[in-house]
Amino acid sequence: RVPLLIDTDPGVDDALAILMAHEHADVAALTVAAGNVGLGHTVRNARTLVDLLGARTPVFAGCPSPLVREPDEDAAFVHGADGFGDVGFAEPAHAAEAEHAALALLRLTRERPGELTLVALGPLTNLALAVRLDPTLPERVKRLVIMGGAVTGHGNTGKVPAEFNIGFDPEAAHVVFEAFPMFDLVDWEATVRHAFPDDLYERWVASGDRRAAFFEKIFGTARRFNAEHERTGFIAADALAMAVALDPAIVERAETRHVAVELDGRLTRGATVVDWHRRLGGKANARIVLEVDQARFGDLIARALGVP
Ligand code: BDR
Ligand code: CA
Repeated sequence: RVPLLIDTDPGVDDALAILMAHEHADVAALTVAAGNVGLGHTVRNARTLVDLLGARTPVFAGCPSPLVREPDEDAAFVHGADGFGDVGFAEPAHAAEAEHAALALLRLTRERPGELTLVALGPLTNLALAVRLDPTLPERVKRLVIMGGAVTGHGNTGKVPAEFNIGFDPEAAHVVFEAFPMFDLVDWEATVRHAFPDDLYERWVASGDRRAAFFEKIFGTARRFNAEHERTGFIAADALAMAVALDPAIVERAETRHVAVELDGRLTRGATVVDWHRRLGGKANARIVLEVDQARFGDLIARALGVP
């Protein structure tokens, strides 16, 4: 089982990724960022998940806001005001740790140098802070998988052609993209290409397992959002990044390029700029995941939802 460190802003698709991680890997910690909704909610949601799983995974709260600028928007319109579909779960029993997420990332990677795969499912604020505190962090991480970016420039944020995690804290993404010599990038457009048919989703959540019932509950707001926007198919960005972290061989097509983050653009702040033609001279830092084995991806989800 792959040992994982997960930085996350739960979030409905974060939740699915975290369920997958606990089913298929050893999760050393959840370090929590603000993003989809505020930090109070994302930390609480992480604790709720640990309760649901009957696990003891430590939860570390991180930064309550981006490094530099307050974002224009969160993603409550998809994930619900509390990030978990406004179901109204009881206060979780599992407590958060006192240590800051960035410090926990540094300590845990010092305790297990070269062992941990770091999976980033939210804005990169905690990772950027950790890297600035200790620039040797990348040397101690076995592998970094990031859900973020929009490599063909479509994106999913309101105003600019950017993806949410990068657009929420572009400076943090810039710091991380420059600091890590190589990472796997699972972008928004890859997510869209790896949608599942709605009837398959319905079968998964009818498994009878408590994880499936839980997921179906928190998915309610996103389901209504999709219906209102006439979107069909089940897509889960963070689940795709998690699948790539859990099973590297799932990747069928990838391109390695230099990827940078636009910080100043008049129209494009937060966009991921890919040097597709290798003309800008930057060293390749990202393996951009383009295609994965969809059946294996679905199987990783199905098992995490208790489908026999
Ligand atoms: C990313 O943004 C968040 O809303 C999701 O949890 C995912 O991490 C997709 O752009
Ligand atoms: Ca997320």
